[in-house]
Amino acid sequence: MTQDATAVQSIDPARFRQVLGHYPTGVVVITAIRPDGQPLGMTVGSFSSVSLDPMLVSFMPTTASKSFQALREADCFCVNVLAADQEALARRFARSGPDRFEDVLWSVAESGAPVLDGTVASIHCTFDSIVEAGDHYIVLGAVQALEVHRPVSPLLFFQGGYGKFSLLAVEDRSPSEMIESVRLVETFRGTMQDVADAVGAECSALTVIGSDLTVVATAAAGGLAPHGSLGSRIPYMPPLGELYAALDADESALRWLGRAASLEDEDVMDRYRERLELARERGWSMSFAGEYPDVALFDALRDYSGGDLTPVRLAEIREVIRSANKYYEHRDLVEGERYDVTSIVAPVMCDGLIRFVLRLRQLPTQATPAQISAWIDALTDAAATASETLSAHGSCR
Ligand SMILES: Cc1cc2nc3c(=O)[nH]c(=O)nc-3n(C[C@H](O)[C@H](O)[C@H](O)COP(=O)(O)O)c2cc1C
Repeated sequence: MTQDATAVQSIDPARFRQVLGHYPTGVVVITAIRPDGQPLGMTVGSFSSVSLDPMLVSFMPTTASKSFQALREADCFCVNVLAADQEALARRFARSGPDRFEDVLWSVAESGAPVLDGTVASIHCTFDSIVEAGDHYIVLGAVQALEVHRPVSPLLFFQGGYGKFSLLAVEDRSPSEMIESVRLVETFRGTMQDVADAVGAECSALTVIGSDLTVVATAAAGGLAPHGSLGSRIPYMPPLGELYAALDADESALRWLGRAASLEDEDVMDRYRERLELARERGWSMSFAGEYPDVALFDALRDYSGGDLTPVRLAEIREVIRSANKYYEHRDLVEGERYDVTSIVAPVMCDGLIRFVLRLRQLPTQATPAQISAWIDALTDAAATASETLSAHGSCR
């Protein structure tokens, strides 16, 4: 027992800090109004949720903190959860000096405590108790009100540096794979341009990188501005990337299928399997969403490609995509009818494995069945030519 205590005392404080710095924290600014009406605030990394019933949170100011000496005199304080783009505020509220609020945008909340602009969330508290713990206090705050203002990635602090949250689920994006794919596509870029010109549409090449279908080249007929810019990403999950999944290696295709939310719903899963079978038989696929009349789907795809995703937004995006299922249902084209086709997709194969898909978009609207089958023929021919070029090139993977 005595030995243990000695061992603890012999730890160098610098080492204590260094080791504890390996544990990341969020960053908040605790704010309050002084009795003289002036706002005060301090940056804190030791904030934590404590209890649900009653609702308590905590933070740990050092006993030497002048800000906390003033803060504890207030009736109410606000925990301002900083966003990833608010590093400057974290630095400002950690430096000494009275001018921390200069040029900072804030307002007084109903609780009477200051709320900083642009934060992720605010939590308004009264003091429940303050316990001394070594050279710090443990402050328990009783939560009176709370709100999310901006559901974005929070600011994080780790090993003395600032960072932001990134989802492992969408982070397996290898730049080297992207570069290699862009290089390979160059071998058949001319074919893509030819089919884009012949159809009067946009032709993109996409490939699976990590858990995404990524655009690695785009060619557009004269007068069209390409929509799918190089590097833009779509989640590789049902119903998107159906043709790629139909021809992909079993393991990867199963992973694609596994991203459907309806794993327990055998009817839905059977429909997906049937569609994979159909895509495999036909060697092409087609969708009829129109040019994104579905705003939720458009926003979801834009946000996904844009990066900076929170777990909640990713879950929402996946839900929106799953409900886009209807656009990918098989349709029998009827003579005399006209159709707005969103995309037609055909595979570029190499050594019997799918390597890319070619996707036609921005197709002329109100197309006849004859026109659509001519486009399908043109695209599947182009994809076959691209497959030959790629195989002749000799470096499929
Ligand atoms: C990322 C970060 C986290 C911090 N966390 C704490 C903390 O948990 N407790 C604390 O007392 N000080 C913390 N500080 C330091 C205080 O913000 C700073 O020392 C204090 O505001 C100094 O001024 P004062 O003496 O007026 O309080 C942190 C600073 C930074 C940059």
